[in-house]
Amino acid sequence: MWIIPNKLLIYIFWIMEIRLVSSFTSAMLCGRIPGLTAAQRQLCSEMPDALIALGEGHQLGSQECQHQFRGHRWNCSEVWQRNVFAHIMPVASREAAFTYAIANAGAAYAVTAACARGNISTCGCDGRHKSSGGDGSSISMDWKWGGCSADVDFGMRFARKFMDAREVEKDARSLMNLHNNRAGRTLVKKLLKTDCKCHGVSGSCVMKTCWKSLPPFRLMGDRLMQKYHKAKTVQVVRGKRGLRLVLSRKKHPAAVAAASQKQTLAWPKRLELIYLAPSPNYCERSLRSGSLGTKGRICQQKQGHHGPQSCDLLCCGRGYNTQYISRTVQCSCQFHWCCQVECKLCDESYEEFTCK
Ligand SMILES: *[C@@H]1O[C@H](CO)[C@@H](O)[C@H](O)[C@H]1NC(C)=O
Ligand SMILES: *[C@@H]1O[C@H](CO)[C@@H](O)[C@H](O)[C@H]1NC(C)=O
Repeated sequence: MWIIPNKLLIYIFWIMEIRLVSSFTSAMLCGRIPGLTAAQRQLCSEMPDALIALGEGHQLGSQECQHQFRGHRWNCSEVWQRNVFAHIMPVASREAAFTYAIANAGAAYAVTAACARGNISTCGCDGRHKSSGGDGSSISMDWKWGGCSADVDFGMRFARKFMDAREVEKDARSLMNLHNNRAGRTLVKKLLKTDCKCHGVSGSCVMKTCWKSLPPFRLMGDRLMQKYHKAKTVQVVRGKRGLRLVLSRKKHPAAVAAASQKQTLAWPKRLELIYLAPSPNYCERSLRSGSLGTKGRICQQKQGHHGPQSCDLLCCGRGYNTQYISRTVQCSCQFHWCCQVECKLCDESYEEFTCK
């Protein structure tokens, strides 16, 4: 059995395999997933349908992570694949913080969405947002909750039970993971939107029905990316009730040393991403630091282009190879009524740059 002591995603991978064997009874199925804790096994046999949603959440997180980091030196591509699971985020870096957060946002989001679709028998719509009159403060006086509000609390709870169950070490790294896990899940709740529908004669909006719904997942990715850029370094301190993470103060070490410990302690905020270690530069291949290197990556070579995808940055100063590519493509396509599309053939040539 290949049980890698490397945190949560391995389970989620196995969860994805559940799709393939969904004809098994849940007891058999949950018995086949290796490395589950007793609590997870229990959850699995109680709600195998929710695990399928977790698999969808894994997909969401993976695709969004790759979208957000496309073209960067670290591009999130290896993290979600099976064969390199042993090396998933070995460094407690910013990138690790993002990865855990988006994985958890994906989990909470997908379970919540599955509830609203009626795919999970033990959850459905959020009862608290149903049929009672509106509070009148946020929208208008004449509206009420109706329809199906996303039961995000259920989604978050289920994702928490499952995703956090892996962090058993109680060391600094697992505290970091737990914090970022929660930040990702909480964001889903924070970004819920309120949709309303008007009722009334011909377009008048005499009465409104409103419900909470999930925004596109892209929004989670965009927000988490902002949080990634503003992520905070933390360090571990020993408190009365065990280890805790506090924000690092690195401005003036002497001043920090002079001030009393108590004054300098500050907890990270709930929705902030936190990390313990500086990122490797991801230039060279090093599996120990979770870096695939950038040799062979396609880069952008334009005047004045200084983004992460520019050859300067992406190739880490090693330089790049230029290849002239010419090919024939379809172009100037026109639609003729009805129903034909006619295109011309054009020769296209361009330069492609790859990192040395
Ligand atoms: C969820 O429900 C829809 C229809 O309600 C169904 O088409 C879909 O296959 C279900 N998905 C899963 C993963 O059960
Ligand atoms: C991501 O990086 C890896 C390794 O450097 C590379 O093989 C892969 O093509 C990149 N993916 C994208 C979409 O750029």
